[in-house]
Amino acid sequence: MAKAISFIVVFSFLLIPASTLVESNQEGYISGVISNKGLDFAKNLLIEKAISSMVPLQLSDIEKSVKIPVIGKVLLGLSNIIIHSVDVASSLVETGDSGISLVASDATANMNMDWRYSYKTWLVPIAISDHGTATVQVQGMVIWLNAAIINQEGTLKLLLLDCGCHVKDISIKVNGGASWLYQGIIDAFQGKIVSAIEDAITKNIKEGIKKLDSKLQSLPKQMQVNGVVALNVTFVEDPLLSNSSVELKVNGLFNGADGSSVSNYYVKGSQSFLSCTDSAKMVEISLHQNVFKSAALVYFNANYMHWTVDKIPDQSLMNTDGWRYIIPELYQQYPDDDINFSIAVTSPPIIRVSDHDIGTTIYADLVIEVLNSGETVPVTCISLVISASCSAEIYGNNLAGSIRLVNFTENLKWSNIGNLQMHLVQAAMSTILETFFMPYLNSHLSTGFPLPLPHGFTLQNADIVRLDSKVKVLSDLSFTDRYESYNLNQLPIYW
Ligand SMILES: *[C@@H]1O[C@H](CO)[C@@H](O)[C@H](O)[C@H]1NC(C)=O
Ligand SMILES: *[C@@H]1O[C@H](CO)[C@@H](O)[C@H](O)[C@H]1NC(C)=O
Ligand SMILES: *[C@@H]1O[C@H](CO)[C@@H](O)[C@H](O)[C@H]1NC(C)=O
Ligand SMILES: *[C@@H]1O[C@H](CO)[C@@H](O)[C@H](O)[C@H]1NC(C)=O
Repeated sequence: MAKAISFIVVFSFLLIPASTLVESNQEGYISGVISNKGLDFAKNLLIEKAISSMVPLQLSDIEKSVKIPVIGKVLLGLSNIIIHSVDVASSLVETGDSGISLVASDATANMNMDWRYSYKTWLVPIAISDHGTATVQVQGMVIWLNAAIINQEGTLKLLLLDCGCHVKDISIKVNGGASWLYQGIIDAFQGKIVSAIEDAITKNIKEGIKKLDSKLQSLPKQMQVNGVVALNVTFVEDPLLSNSSVELKVNGLFNGADGSSVSNYYVKGSQSFLSCTDSAKMVEISLHQNVFKSAALVYFNANYMHWTVDKIPDQSLMNTDGWRYIIPELYQQYPDDDINFSIAVTSPPIIRVSDHDIGTTIYADLVIEVLNSGETVPVTCISLVISASCSAEIYGNNLAGSIRLVNFTENLKWSNIGNLQMHLVQAAMSTILETFFMPYLNSHLSTGFPLPLPHGFTLQNADIVRLDSKVKVLSDLSFTDRYESYNLNQLPIYW
């Protein structure tokens, strides 16, 4: 069972991130392109895993009776025929319109078997029998498979078009018994052994593909990130196979963890993401800016974008005394009272990815609340339009980021403490944004969210490129059987 799973895990690498429009209104906002280099890596891993899940492979017993002149009818049986190891000298993966083909050639295998032998002859009135073991060297084996991958209702379906195994040559060395006598007879069974090997390996591939297919069908369509958001990893198109890459697309938008959809909000994504088929890296994962927008929208809709602040590094601003010269009337009405700020984002943040940065515009209201004899008194509200610039980085398998304030504008929305000198308030707002708001956002952005990668794979030497509405992660991959999971439930929320 464990063997079957590892086989599945590897192959699913080829197929995970995904996808011919099933419905023309479906868009993929996260796409993954697996380059030649990535396909090679996957192929080697797949072959390694397929072999280790296949061997030891026991073949069915073989029995045969042969008529031999003078001696008469001889009954020969081969049992415990076991392939112990398989080595593949060269292999090739090719992709094209018709699917993926994988060929392992120049493969060798080592086998052991038991033989027994009996006959009756008129020369000697009793049955003669003998037995022993034999080792078999299999040479020049070619194993191939062709498969197509299609999108079936949002999951990938793997269709095995053709597969097979061809053995060029075997050599049998008989041990035990009067082996010298029987070598020739056992050699006569070469043809049967060869077809037993070919049948067993072909059957093994078919079963492996069937298991892999059912595993693919059972991949979840939502990837839970935390209690608030889930990433929609429903495949949206058929995988796009060129002669040098495989491209997979998933919906890629964040939903509420409760399954609430936010998709209607989006303008269409662009049609083709294929750009780096000759990439020096194994994979290219593109995230459209709508991915980030959707995350922000979910947090906004789930009411996560407001905060009450009673502590900032400059504590003097947390008492009306500190506002004595900024808003004199505040101090006059509420001398020496503590203050809380209530900050609320008022519309879903706008996020734009351009060549030089990831820019965001956040509309927020900041209310100054005076804590006056046990009562909270909102005294004034300042509307802020905050421009910030984000940079993206990779943290483990997560896409994380950091944010920096670019500028902001402020407007008095209402006031119970007379008119405010906005140019005086500016510096205080700047302090609050720089010392509380940006650090707060950064503490969440620094963990980021997990990129949809199959279990066991880790990004290696990832580079990030921003390109006209997309963030692209170009990376190599490493694979470890011991899956080091980031506990998704423990990730802080994105915002
Ligand atoms: C892949 O296809 C492109 C265009 O269809 C062609 O120019 C290129 O030579 C092909 N590469 C290989 C390796 O077949
Ligand atoms: C997930 O994406 C698929 C494909 O785009 C879409 O049909 C489905 O409605 C989405 N699910 C949610 C919960 O938005
Ligand atoms: C001030 O803010 C803190 C932190 O959010 C909160 O615990 C406290 O209740 C607030 N005080 C009042 C009077 O609103
Ligand atoms: C703030 O920065 C943004 C982004 O760089 C720019 O478009 C905008 O004009 C700036 N606003 C002000 C008031 O400087």
